[in-house]
Amino acid sequence: MAEGVGTGVGLVRHGRLLGHALASSMDEHARYGGVVPEIAARAHVHAVRPVIQRALDKAGLRLTDVGAVAVTTGPGLSGALQVGLAAAKGLAYALGVPLHGVHHLAGHVAADTLEHGPLPDPCMVLIVSGGHTSLLLVRDLARDPVLHLIDTLDDAAGECFDKVARVFGLPCPGGPAIDRTAREGDPHAVPFPRPLPGSYDFSFSGLKTAAARWAEGHAGRELPVADGAASLQEAVADVLTRKAVDACRKHRVGTLVVVGGVAANSRVRSLAEERCRAAGIHLRVPPMKLCTDNGAMIANVGDLLVRAGAEPAPLDVSIDPSAPL
Ligand code: KG4
Ligand code: ZN
Repeated sequence: MAEGVGTGVGLVRHGRLLGHALASSMDEHARYGGVVPEIAARAHVHAVRPVIQRALDKAGLRLTDVGAVAVTTGPGLSGALQVGLAAAKGLAYALGVPLHGVHHLAGHVAADTLEHGPLPDPCMVLIVSGGHTSLLLVRDLARDPVLHLIDTLDDAAGECFDKVARVFGLPCPGGPAIDRTAREGDPHAVPFPRPLPGSYDFSFSGLKTAAARWAEGHAGRELPVADGAASLQEAVADVLTRKAVDACRKHRVGTLVVVGGVAANSRVRSLAEERCRAAGIHLRVPPMKLCTDNGAMIANVGDLLVRAGAEPAPLDVSIDPSAPL
């Protein structure tokens, strides 16, 4: 189960997705111009039972066929996490099966392994979502720790898309709206900055401010939104893919894995493909619908934990809304 703006449930057996379902409360947040945590939590209360049933129906399974329950414990919105954890505990207790707590970002990586199999050793993982923009060097997890190479100093890339979309008057969620609008625009129309060139960090708040200034500069005139969206998207995709490919070269890593909601962005995908091909790097990106939050990715981590013989979580396990990477 995954919790955020969407209530997601997936059923995975031995690395194979049997069925998954997702309900989104995004429409309920749209009129507030952003995600309202209380609305997200209440929406989960209503969605959790039907979404579990839909996932079971798609998989052709019954609740009693479930052998273990995995649930996101963090990071995320605390009310939403609480609802998911309570539901997962109830299920695990009633069914008499193990419960596993899952880190949300491990889930994003598992969205890719669900499609492409285990990660090669070593590989570079770029996680880009609404809350994170991080580059990790992943070696053999059993022997070597994950090296956390780059992080954002301020906003995450998805947050930048969401906030600028609001300034441009585009609907919520902003990232997909920017992506759609950008199709009609010129990516080179506005020379938005490429933050921190040559540095080993990401930063997106300057880009967000530059986009807001550009919009303000059109006061009283029609805003060429498509050009603004295409240029913003180009700047974000340029910075993300350039730094990820440079890091692969520097660390002599032959595989780049791009995951998280922003990995669904069409320009991030195409530019990553272009640059990886030119650099001889193998690129892995999950299918678009598994990039944004979903239950399948959390179920896949659960399946991996069960097969690795991991110790289940106690039934009094609690959420960790700001769980570190
Ligand atoms: O991973 P995710 O679903 O939730 C978090 O863990 O944050 O990522 C959500 C983020 C949002 O900021 C959303 O606007 C962005 O991913 N996003 C996109 C696209 N689809 C989702 N950003 C750009 N282009 C997209 N197509
Ligand atoms: Zn996410």
